[in-house]
Amino acid sequence: MLETFKKDVKQGLDSNPKTLSSKYFYNKIGDALFVEIMNLPEYYLTRSELDIFQNKTQDLINALQLNSNTPFELIELGAGDGLKTKKLLRSLDKQNYTFDYLPIDISSNALQLLKKDLSNTLPNVSVKTQQGDYFKILASLKKSSKPKVILFLGSNIGNMDDEKAAEFIYNLGANLKPGDKLLLGVDLIKAKEIVLPAYNDKQGITAKFNLNLLHRINEELGADFNLKNFKHQPEYNKEEGIAKSYIVSTEQQTVTINALETSYTFEADEKIHTEISRKYNDALIEKIIANTDFTLQTKILDSKAYFADYILTRN
Ligand code: AVI
Repeated sequence: MLETFKKDVKQGLDSNPKTLSSKYFYNKIGDALFVEIMNLPEYYLTRSELDIFQNKTQDLINALQLNSNTPFELIELGAGDGLKTKKLLRSLDKQNYTFDYLPIDISSNALQLLKKDLSNTLPNVSVKTQQGDYFKILASLKKSSKPKVILFLGSNIGNMDDEKAAEFIYNLGANLKPGDKLLLGVDLIKAKEIVLPAYNDKQGITAKFNLNLLHRINEELGADFNLKNFKHQPEYNKEEGIAKSYIVSTEQQTVTINALETSYTFEADEKIHTEISRKYNDALIEKIIANTDFTLQTKILDSKAYFADYILTRN
């Protein structure tokens, strides 16, 4: 793990322009900051998808074309606190569907908390937590002949570029059978006035989240980034439909990373690209799934039409 981190940091900072991968946001501090982000007034994504799960639950269930006589598996990639999914689980449980809920996460701590919470709030729902890598677990689940529904929510797919997203969805399809479903939650392309503040909140939590990457390199790779000399800078181009986050060096400076036995010079105003958060529309989704084994079946929007849960069917 540390070796991969080292390699990725080196590769990113050796590049021109410099980059660092957003996948390294999520250590203990980053996880806690992301929970804060989800509760920010500006970060509409989580609330919008919760609106769908809370107020359009029956539309979701109908779109998934579930049969109450056939047991199925509801598999969630990156379950987190399960807040949204609980709305769906409660409704399925009330309607006497027979299913197992299989939340997959890399964090065993998150899974334990979720399992405990569900055993109190929805004691009838069968919960089988799966800790580890999504694709390894999906491959192991292939043996079961039960129909599957995969949940990939929160616009997590948007942190991949379109090529990676297409590859990811293709690989999901390779682990499914005809008729299985993928419920893909994505943020939609909309005005800059709405999107940009979601990545530039007034309290500066997103800034801390982004800059935590430098703090992490300091802690884990023995670097001497002075966080005061860097700032968070989000950008959004509606035509492109992608929000991008950067860390900008506010002055010319040199930083040493002991574990890499290297120093890096940053010019004043030099940008390190850290994250993309893609926003979507139907055409983009169609394009991304074009070479996968999925067909777009329908989508369900929140009341403001900010966010969509697309239902894709495995061919
Ligand atoms: C996890 N992911 C979908 C978030 C997003 O909106 O791209 C991560 C995030 N980055 C800054 N704020 C939130």
